[in-house]
Amino acid sequence: MNGFAIAIDGPAAAGKGTLSKAVAAHFGFAHLDTGLLYRAVGAKTLLGVEPIEAALALVAEDLDAEGLRTPDVAQAASRVAVIPQVRAALVDFQRAFAARSGGAVLDGRDIGTVICPDARVKLFVTASPEVRAERRFLELNAKGDPSTRAEVLADVQARDARDMERVEAPLKPAQDAVLIDTSDLSIEDAVAQAVAIIEARTNGG
Ligand code: DC
Repeated sequence: MNGFAIAIDGPAAAGKGTLSKAVAAHFGFAHLDTGLLYRAVGAKTLLGVEPIEAALALVAEDLDAEGLRTPDVAQAASRVAVIPQVRAALVDFQRAFAARSGGAVLDGRDIGTVICPDARVKLFVTASPEVRAERRFLELNAKGDPSTRAEVLADVQARDARDMERVEAPLKPAQDAVLIDTSDLSIEDAVAQAVAIIEARTNGG
């Protein structure tokens, strides 16, 4: 690996996205939300495209498509993500991104375990299912989504189960990942923890 890659994994709505963006901005690194790749493929399957075909045909512009953040697309993403050929089709794009010379932050489910096993720093960001569901509920509610709290919790639990129990690249912390539990942390505190861990590595720690 050429660049300085930071792998940030964890379950749905644990705060990975916010944390990854803040960490990337702090260090001046590029950021890739790898969930968007699976969401873009999932969104195409909702339009009737076959999942492996959709993954093979994926282009960077697809990541900017409207509507990738809806609960339906999240579930579709989690469903296509169990298909080994879909995952295989998305590996090169992610590894090329990780190898950029200016440094890269990738967040997802299997970055530290499969995509970038040599990442300089691996973080596993988690929080209790109830806390994650409440955060996601507030986010969706603010956007006018009619989902109830109970529906959002059921959604989070279904995705957790599918993402953790799949055979190919299941969600789990890499052996050398540092755990950050954001259940009782503010965003600022979580970012400060992450930055401190990364700085310790940057300085040869
Ligand atoms: O991070 P997210 O919620 O946008 O991810 C959507 C789904 O995509 C997630 O439920 C599982 C899948 N995914 C994956 O399997 N591997 C990744 N590296 C990122 C996401």
